[in-house]
Amino acid sequence: MPFADAADVSARLRGVILDGRRIRVICEPEVKRPLMRKALLLEARRMREKTKAFRRKGVRIDSGTRLFVTPEDLAMKLAKRAENKSVVDGFCGLGGNAIAFARCGCRVNAIEIDRRTLGMAAHNAAVYGVSIQFRIGNIVEIISEMSGDLLWLDPPWGELTRRPCVFDELPGLEAILKKLKPGAFKQIWIKLPPTIDTATLPDCCFEPVFGEGQGDRHRIKFIWARIK
Ligand SMILES: C[S@@+](CC[C@H](N)C(=O)[O-])C[C@H]1O[C@@H](n2cnc3c(N)ncnc32)[C@H](O)[C@@H]1O
Repeated sequence: MPFADAADVSARLRGVILDGRRIRVICEPEVKRPLMRKALLLEARRMREKTKAFRRKGVRIDSGTRLFVTPEDLAMKLAKRAENKSVVDGFCGLGGNAIAFARCGCRVNAIEIDRRTLGMAAHNAAVYGVSIQFRIGNIVEIISEMSGDLLWLDPPWGELTRRPCVFDELPGLEAILKKLKPGAFKQIWIKLPPTIDTATLPDCCFEPVFGEGQGDRHRIKFIWARIK
């Protein structure tokens, strides 16, 4: 492989953790530093063109919440698979998923623990002209009273994106699954970090979801797990 290509591959894979394992690239002979620096700079430039969080102007989003929104195009792709269902979004955040579900004709109940974030989600839903039932609360405490066709769970990942992790480490998930009334939901979908060791998932089907922007279309943005 030419040095320039080796530098490019190393730059793209730097820091990537996949399926619970950290990827290490070793080039022999070593790529010279200036070439490596150039490749890293190019990768940083590419990464600026990520899949957009929201496409419409006027949405509320801040630096703290920007990173965790499910990008609109990806949220819509998933939501189309849930058309017209009744959905509970247990970790609503800025409404990335809740809005997409509502745009696909779903009746959506969205729960969020943080009042300010919930306010931004409600504003964003208005920008998209969709109606969503928002509720402030802790999903772990209220899940036992909820039911519907689909339960969507996108818990905060925190530092789990920076190291290999296992299913039990995702906040709230184990407790939610335990507290669910039997048969309360026909389907349960969970958004998981690419760093998760898929061998630790409960019985489910799962697939990687890639970005769609110039900079992240070769990157797994998240793992979409569907519990059986
Ligand atoms: C990863 S974000 C969800 C992002 C959302 N899917 C979107 O696209 O905008 C997780 C959200 O869950 C909220 N959260 C954390 N723990 C919660 C809990 N126990 N109950 C309800 N919401 C919770 C956080 O405040 C955060 O806004």
